Amino acid sequence: MSTFVQQLEIADPIVLDVIDRPEPHAGPGQVRVRVRAAGLNPVDWKVASIPAAAARYGVSAPTGFGHDFAGEIDEVGADVEGFTIGDRVFGGARARAVAEHVVMTVATDLLVRTPEGLSDEAAGALSIAARTADAAVTTVGASAGDTVLIGGAAGGVGVLAVQLVVAAGAKVIATASESNHEFLRDLGAIPTTYGDGLADRVRALAPGGVDAAIDLQGTDTVLAALDLGVDPARIATIAAGPNPPGGAVATGGGQAAPDALDRIAQAIAEGRLTLPIEATFPVERISDAVALQRGGHVRGKVVVTV
Ligand SMILES: NC(=O)c1ccc[n+]([C@@H]2O[C@H](COP(=O)([O-])OP(=O)(O)OC[C@H]3O[C@@H](n4cnc5c(N)ncnc54)[C@H](OP(=O)(O)O)[C@@H]3O)[C@@H](O)[C@H]2O)c1
Repeated sequence: MSTFVQQLEIADPIVLDVIDRPEPHAGPGQVRVRVRAAGLNPVDWKVASIPAAAARYGVSAPTGFGHDFAGEIDEVGADVEGFTIGDRVFGGARARAVAEHVVMTVATDLLVRTPEGLSDEAAGALSIAARTADAAVTTVGASAGDTVLIGGAAGGVGVLAVQLVVAAGAKVIATASESNHEFLRDLGAIPTTYGDGLADRVRALAPGGVDAAIDLQGTDTVLAALDLGVDPARIATIAAGPNPPGGAVATGGGQAAPDALDRIAQAIAEGRLTLPIEATFPVERISDAVALQRGGHVRGKVVVTV
């Protein structure tokens, strides 16, 4: 038997059951991954509780839960080249990742080798956040000498976006609650609070002006950046829907460069980037993990171990 987190209804409150199901097996062109760690993202609870969000991702109940995962291949189907039993991998499997076993179709599913030196906990929390951070940073084109405003910077996407922009040589002004300011300073950013008066606070911190902005929470940072005179083509948002205000650019993980996961995983493995993990829960405590993620104030990532 194989542990699986199951959801019988797309509904709020979210009810998740940790069950034993018959072991799934790898068919032709597939590998089976023994999952060790599964990182959570806001999209997981949205898909689990909002029928329209579930429909957008083709998810219907009964279903599993979670997207990001990491572990090692423990079964290889016919006609698979390039992967063998024991290979460490990570990736994304929509609404079925928090499980002891995940079956992945090698040709079409998101499956990447875990570099040496990267833990399953970190690799298993990368798939969505790393691709989204990469896409947002590429969209605004941060480079040396730029000043970049990043809103909602202490969460899963933010911690990576901040470090990618700092690594590009830019100055980063990053918004978060006061309790996260020291944390953001350690990542190389100049912190400030979000909310009313943001444009004025940023003006005081960046008298030379702001060149680009990334909004990871919606439109507050977009609006502040427009107020600061930033070119809308250099304002990206990942959480404002397809038509953000003022001609800002909607972006997301789907726009990441094909090598984004390899590149960011390698950088973390080598210590050039860090992926802070606020909390790790055993799978039996999946509901506590989801509640923490859903609270909206996670610092970095929340991970479930299986
Ligand atoms: N388009 C895409 O492809 C894509 C991909 C990934 C995520 N997203 C969306 O982007 C958003 C962020 O994702 P995530 O994974 O980074 O989420 P997350 O890890 O849950 O973000 C948590 C962070 O949000 C901050 N925060 C909460 N309220 C805020 C506010 N009003 N203004 C600024 N920051 C605030 C918190 O900071 P404090 O604790 O300091 O308040 C916390 O550190 C979510 O809505 C998610 O659904 C979209």
